[in-house]
Amino acid sequence: MSLTRVAVYRRRIAASIERVRENVLDWEHLPWLHAESFGHVRLLERRRGGFRAETSTRREDGEPMAERDAFEIDVAFEEGGLEYHSRTLTGRGAGADIVTRLTPDGSATEIEVEFLVPDVPAERIERVGAGFLALYARLWDQDEVMMVRRQALLDGVLPRGSREVCVDGERLRHATVCPHLGGPLESAPVEEGCITCPWHGYRFDVRTGCSVDGRGLRLATSRVA
Ligand code: FES
Ligand SMILES: [Fe+2]
Repeated sequence: MSLTRVAVYRRRIAASIERVRENVLDWEHLPWLHAESFGHVRLLERRRGGFRAETSTRREDGEPMAERDAFEIDVAFEEGGLEYHSRTLTGRGAGADIVTRLTPDGSATEIEVEFLVPDVPAERIERVGAGFLALYARLWDQDEVMMVRRQALLDGVLPRGSREVCVDGERLRHATVCPHLGGPLESAPVEEGCITCPWHGYRFDVRTGCSVDGRGLRLATSRVA
């Protein structure tokens, strides 16, 4: 199997290398923050500096791919934490190796992503490369917003707001910062009294503040008099 470099993506991310590393190892956000790109994720193995997971992409009409189209990915940092590989182990695209190099620059990080894809005929290189560039621009746009908010939270400068909602005729107030990693709950949907965070999909009962997915976290909530 020969690997072809189909494209290279470069950009500057307005977040420190610590936030970038945190984001890369955050397997859980894939089908939530990148809901239009990933169908699901299931962690298979977690280790220092990497993980292996089963995931799937979405079809162009937004529907998740069939179960049989799931594939395994392995994300692994090299020693030193300045380079990592996202390898497709099984399924469609098996053998692909996406290599990302990180260069810290103060509170920002320069990234360079090289897409190495197996068995691409010469006449398809440009098209396959363009697909990766469009996908990665969107993924990094979404990740950057998350990293910037995470940093503001850690720096103690993220405004701690609340939102009023009505559940079964009762006026309630809930915090707009998710107790998991600080995701934005300002516009998160509330259904049957439960709110779902857009970053990792954790759910909380707005009436009690309790996790409803067994995670043991608590969202600050109160009744409006
Ligand atoms: S920040 Fe992770 S679920 Fe809200
Ligand atoms: Fe991401």
